[in-house]
Amino acid sequence: MTDLSAFIRGLPKAELHLHIEGSLEPELMFELARRNRVALPFKTVEEVRTAYAFSNLQDFLDIYYQGAQVLLTEEDFQDLAMAYFRRVAADGCRHVELFFDPQTHTDRGVPFQVAVDGLLAGMKAAEGAFGITSKLILCYLRHLDEDAAFATLKAAEPWLDRITGVGLDSSEVGHPPSKFARVFKASRERGLKLVAHAGEEGPPEYVWEALDILGVDRIDHGNRSLEDARLVERLAREGMTLTVCPLSNLKLCVVDDLKVHPLKRMLGLGLHATVNSDDPAYFGGYLGENWTASATAVGLTRDELVTLARNSFEGSFLGEAEKAQYLAAVDAYVAAN
Ligand code: HPA
Ligand code: ZN
Repeated sequence: MTDLSAFIRGLPKAELHLHIEGSLEPELMFELARRNRVALPFKTVEEVRTAYAFSNLQDFLDIYYQGAQVLLTEEDFQDLAMAYFRRVAADGCRHVELFFDPQTHTDRGVPFQVAVDGLLAGMKAAEGAFGITSKLILCYLRHLDEDAAFATLKAAEPWLDRITGVGLDSSEVGHPPSKFARVFKASRERGLKLVAHAGEEGPPEYVWEALDILGVDRIDHGNRSLEDARLVERLAREGMTLTVCPLSNLKLCVVDDLKVHPLKRMLGLGLHATVNSDDPAYFGGYLGENWTASATAVGLTRDELVTLARNSFEGSFLGEAEKAQYLAAVDAYVAAN
């Protein structure tokens, strides 16, 4: 176990599915609430942690949007990002592609600029302090309408040289990817990469829509793809990256037990799965814990761990030269350990 944890910690790896608002630890939530004079419906950190028992995605989202209300200034967003990067530096994370939800902030009067500039400052500081590279992905909230997503794309216009892509998150069932066909097309035309949450709670049809209607470059989660053999064959053939989140799946009851998590099965089917934390402050583990817990639960081999590390860089939006450098670092580590 310790050998496994140490091997995983040293293995160069990237995180491709991380909602930065979901890295808000209760301690920082209280500190920011105090700093910003925001009232919280909880008295103690313990009370907050006790509230983190979810039976589905919506249960979680309700409390996640509530927690984000303490984020008001650029400094708050920078502190949030730095706390996350400091934590994953200890897990041997080398590159992160982080999501943020601008509408969660603009809808309560916090300007787009405050969130984006704070996060970009945190990303820059983290590269200096920890050597972790990162890219920013803006997510449209799918429970809101497509006009609201278009307004977000418009607000993002001055920052499009610093935003790598757009994603689609929040309540999945009842909000299929096709609802956002036009805004994804407009996003693509602006040179942005495209990703979408699909097949976490939603059916395989949502994964098909993300591929065929949105034209995504990656699928976030994708678990329910396994219910459709033709879809599995398509995803494998195209080398489509799936950003899988084992501890999130457990906490949101997408799987009943980590031992039956499909991660190993996905690799066996030739799917380009990666391991990620989703919302680590809410789901009980950062990147390293997702790796060690799932490796232990489903019995990943050393070769499978190396494949997951390679998949995390190959599936990233890094340029070819940077990808090659990170992949060479994986190879060097494997040769030496
Ligand atoms: N799924 C959908 N939306 C989200 C999630 C998630 O796991 N985390 C934050 N927003
Ligand atoms: Zn997610």
